[in-house]
Amino acid sequence: MFEINLAEKYVPHSAQLPFHLDGYKIRYRGVFGGTGSGKTLAGVAEDVRWLIENPGIVGYVFEPTYLMVKHILIPTLEKILGSLTSSPLIKSFHQGDMHITLWNGSQLWLGSLLNPELAEGANIDFVHVDEARLIRNFDTAWHVIERRLRGSGGGHPNGAWSQQRLTLQDHIYIAYLRTQKQN
Ligand SMILES: Nc1ncnc2c1ncn2[C@@H]1O[C@H](COP(=O)(O)OP(=O)(O)O)[C@@H](O)[C@H]1O
Ligand SMILES: [Mg+2]
Repeated sequence: MFEINLAEKYVPHSAQLPFHLDGYKIRYRGVFGGTGSGKTLAGVAEDVRWLIENPGIVGYVFEPTYLMVKHILIPTLEKILGSLTSSPLIKSFHQGDMHITLWNGSQLWLGSLLNPELAEGANIDFVHVDEARLIRNFDTAWHVIERRLRGSGGGHPNGAWSQQRLTLQDHIYIAYLRTQKQN
């Protein structure tokens, strides 16, 4: 059995901490901040926390495009987990379908929301959407996500948002407020 001490890899700063403290309490959470403020890393650290604390759980992280999966998401995941192809924490990483299985049976899918219909599939336990503002057809994408968030049977359904600047008129912010009523 391998162990990972998340605290050795990531210590949340004061603006990231409230997001993590609401884990298991709030169904839909968001991280909002400027470029470089730590949204992606906070979201990925939270994903890894769920994968570790709930063996057998199934999660999905979405970026707006596959290029961002490669250039942003995978390097950020590797900051915490180590190399996806050689870390002892990872049982398998299938690059073709962007699917990771951890040593404890938890699974993480990495995907793009360029064509939200393609994100349809089996039920999952948690979703993390990075750079939500850049996602075209966001409403369609969000419907697909909500349909899939029924739980794999392994853990709590949970949604997480990662988003840059917002205004009250912003459609992402309006969609976010809608989820807050469901918390
Ligand atoms: N709590 C933290 N401790 C150490 N480094 C951090 C922390 N949060 C973010 N960083 C680092 O800051 C940089 C920007 O973080 P990132 O999550 O990519 O920002 P954003 O997604 O908001 O643009 C990255 O190099 C990341 O590793
Ligand atoms: Mg980011």
